[in-house]
Amino acid sequence: MATITHLSETKPNVSIEELLAGFHPSYRFGEVSFNTYRPDPSQPSQTEAVNKLKAFAETVGKKDSGSFLTKLFGKKKETKNGIYLDGGFGVGKTHLLASLWHAAPGRKAFGTFVEYTNLVGALSFRQTVDVLSQYSLVCIDEFELDDPGDTVLMSRLMRELSDAGVKLAATSNTLPGALGEGRFAAVDFQREIKTLSEQFDVHRVEGEDFRHRGLPDAPVPLEDQQIEGFAEERYPNKTLAVDHFDQLVAHLSQVHPSRYRQLLSETDALVLHNVDTITDQAIALRFVVLADRLYDKDVPIIASGKPFSELFTPEMMSGGYQKKYYRAVSRLTALAREGQIGEPAI
Ligand SMILES: Nc1ncnc2c1ncn2[C@@H]1O[C@H](COP(=O)(O)OP(=O)(O)OP(=O)(O)O)[C@@H](O)[C@H]1O
Ligand SMILES: [Mg+2]
Repeated sequence: MATITHLSETKPNVSIEELLAGFHPSYRFGEVSFNTYRPDPSQPSQTEAVNKLKAFAETVGKKDSGSFLTKLFGKKKETKNGIYLDGGFGVGKTHLLASLWHAAPGRKAFGTFVEYTNLVGALSFRQTVDVLSQYSLVCIDEFELDDPGDTVLMSRLMRELSDAGVKLAATSNTLPGALGEGRFAAVDFQREIKTLSEQFDVHRVEGEDFRHRGLPDAPVPLEDQQIEGFAEERYPNKTLAVDHFDQLVAHLSQVHPSRYRQLLSETDALVLHNVDTITDQAIALRFVVLADRLYDKDVPIIASGKPFSELFTPEMMSGGYQKKYYRAVSRLTALAREGQIGEPAI
């Protein structure tokens, strides 16, 4: 018998320790390593990325090797405290970043850009610096610099951590020097981006999307009255979260996004009634965070209503946050294909 719960009635309470304990690679990347990454022989930048990251892992936890004299006379350090992997969709950036995390010694944190901004929101800037300064490596996946406030915040955090001897590794789809370009012209913002990019050795990873899928088709929708029975049959003995889309969306605005991981802690599969298009940007961005957490945990979805390709409005899908929305639709669709047609979501 499946156990039924409701996300919209779950109020996760998370301590600082629990919050920090979540900063490790997700289930999907829990076992990856440099050995399971298969570089494409026609893309030399992939093998180079592995070599650079292996060398970088060797420097983690070691104090700055510059002698007193070289420091005194200001000789430039050869190696930077950060490494930054740039590249398109699905070239294996997260896989490589997680492999670095697994290979590096000491205390280390792994999270997305959004998770770190949420951490600062939950702990305060000072406390976040104090806590993360104890780490030897901080990995930031999916660096996003489309919000000037968050950029300044993260830039300061990176600088303080780097000064404290913490090694930094990040990934994005855009070069740090070009991030946010064309969207905000504020002088302050550009200055922050420059400072940020100076702390990282940038390596571009070329290649095709390993998943070989752009936006796969949504599975054929199920009738609303079918979905619970379908889910119980497919996932007997599992814990199913059964929710109405509107109620779940309303509940998401009551729970801090840093707690969404905890919100899903008991969920093996999600049964979602009457999915509809979200028209409010703030709510849509929260749903993006939920989608990331569902994908991290590989929670299959069985849904009725509109397909996830219609979750966001056309304006959202072509606006400033389009990359986030596109990613969320791609991930939710993969999870729905897994839930409804049994195709594993990679
Ligand atoms: N060279 C590779 N060898 C083995 N597995 C790979 C390789 N590249 C990617 N993968 C696998 O393909 C999937 C997508 O890769 P990953 O998520 O690391 O890409 P990404 O560049 O971070 O993409 P995104 O832009 O969506 O974040 C993962 O399951 C990953 O383990
Ligand atoms: Mg990734």
